[in-house]
Amino acid sequence: ASIEVDLSAATPISDDLYGLFYEDINHAADGGLYAELVQNRSFEFTTADEASYDALTAWEAVDGSVSVETANPLNENNATYIRATAETALVNSGYNTGMALTAGASYDLSFWAGGGDTQIQATLVDAENNPLSESVLVPTAADGEWAEYEAVLTADADSTSGRLMVTALDPVNLDMISLFPQDTFMGRENGLRPDLAELIADLEPSFLRFPGGCIVNTGSFDPDSRERAYNWKDTVGPVEERLTNHNFWGYNQTYGLGYYEYFQFAEDLGADALPVVPVGTTGCGDSPEITDPEQLDLWVQDTLDLIEFANGDADSEWGAVRAEMGHPEPFGLKYIGLGNEEYKEQFYANYPAFHDAVREAYPDIEIIGNSGVDDSGDVFDRSWEFMREQGADKVDEHYYNDPAWFLSNNDRYDSYDREGPHVFIGEYASRGNSWWNALSEASYLTGVERNGDVIDMASYAPLLSNIDYVDWAPDMIWFDNHQSVASTSYEVQKLFSTNTGDEVLSSTLDASPISSPDIAGGIGLATWNTAATYDDVNVTAADGTELFADDFSAGAEGWTVSGASGTPTGTWEVADGAYSQSAIVEDARSTAGSADWSNYTMEVKATK
Ligand code: AHR
Repeated sequence: ASIEVDLSAATPISDDLYGLFYEDINHAADGGLYAELVQNRSFEFTTADEASYDALTAWEAVDGSVSVETANPLNENNATYIRATAETALVNSGYNTGMALTAGASYDLSFWAGGGDTQIQATLVDAENNPLSESVLVPTAADGEWAEYEAVLTADADSTSGRLMVTALDPVNLDMISLFPQDTFMGRENGLRPDLAELIADLEPSFLRFPGGCIVNTGSFDPDSRERAYNWKDTVGPVEERLTNHNFWGYNQTYGLGYYEYFQFAEDLGADALPVVPVGTTGCGDSPEITDPEQLDLWVQDTLDLIEFANGDADSEWGAVRAEMGHPEPFGLKYIGLGNEEYKEQFYANYPAFHDAVREAYPDIEIIGNSGVDDSGDVFDRSWEFMREQGADKVDEHYYNDPAWFLSNNDRYDSYDREGPHVFIGEYASRGNSWWNALSEASYLTGVERNGDVIDMASYAPLLSNIDYVDWAPDMIWFDNHQSVASTSYEVQKLFSTNTGDEVLSSTLDASPISSPDIAGGIGLATWNTAATYDDVNVTAADGTELFADDFSAGAEGWTVSGASGTPTGTWEVADGAYSQSAIVEDARSTAGSADWSNYTMEVKATK
């Protein structure tokens, strides 16, 4: 084999190529990156968030009793609170198996109390309510007004199933009961879980796209709805004054990790912030759309206000909010994402209002629109043409596909139109978390770098998943309440993002394709979801042979399963008699030993 390199034909690789797409999906924020240990701290969980929720989700009165109240709320955004009877001991169980506590570590307790002159005793306890810390006793004021109280609890033992117990000695109203580890990423207040944030920082990302994804533009655009679309203004200011909201992925999002914290995190990472705002339609489900011109104006203004929040002087209306929160200097926002997968009809009607307003008020901000990509990888011509007509600086493309697609589409951008907007591959992943998926992504990235003249940025998706609250797999980083595991896809991202070249030289390889070795004809992949039978699963060997294309149903043999209890059964039809086969079903979450059969990746090893 030989390789010929043309030193005169170099394509520059974008300095900003490798970044992150963060979405609050899979409990990435609450119960994840956001270090808060108390679940449902403000008693705002409702069935609108998730059918099994109520105001006392994750809380249990182990002595005495509490009632859920709304008559005298802490503020209008924090409408629900509880009233405890005398000698009520209330326990919060946190996320996963409980709160992860470290012996000797200190935890900041805060809570709001009113309507009672009493003392609140707080203690860290284990799952049987045995103490894991000294108790603190906090007197509350006699005047009955809501006030915030603080104390520090120090764990005297390690635990992965810790709880917070608060005991009211006399009747009192309570709200916003919070427990934060003092150890947060870079010591930030209201900060982030260090192990997760550090894994993310190790990727040396050039940008941080947030907060989604589908959570950006799902829900109602009516400001009074309980299922509101994500509005950045709901997420800033004192945490006890922020709304909580239904998250599209089926849980409550507290917005404790809000826009200020995202900007701060991007700055701490040395990355450019890339917020995505809705333009009033959705690519996820069938949410209401903005059709009312007055409502459209409100959301356009919210977008302009966001840019002012990020970049305005501290004496501007929204710059002052940022300054008040602790960051008088502007964040230096360069990009705004207008829409997430919003290429429905209403998108074409709504987008120009956002685009034109941003261009006029902030001509230096780069506008990233979105253009659709179908399952075969073809760009939706209409949305792409529309982006070009509108003068978007970049189009945001999303695709999730099998490894074979990534391998066979390495040349996808070689013939891409160079006259229109540049490309931001805002979401991509091969469907699975096996090494083979990661390898196919690595291979694909060589094609991305080769097209550095038209691809400016790319981010794998999604970034984070809590193993006990999985909405979507694969993901780049998996975690529970005390551990985090980087996937093979993470390692590929890190390899590329920390070893980016300046340019790619044109090269030609003269070699025969590596043939299938004797012992293994190749490895194919298929993914499927929770259905009990799986129809039309195609498995392609590495040498391109279509091995199987039939259904999986109960009763077959020859399967081995790792990382989960139970064995899925299936019947194989061998499409090519030259192959015999064995199959390994790998749980994308096998590291955590979960037995939930969603989103498995199957590797098929075919032997000639
Ligand atoms: O990354 C998961 C989801 O995939 C995102 O929320 C959405 O933008 C895409 O469809």
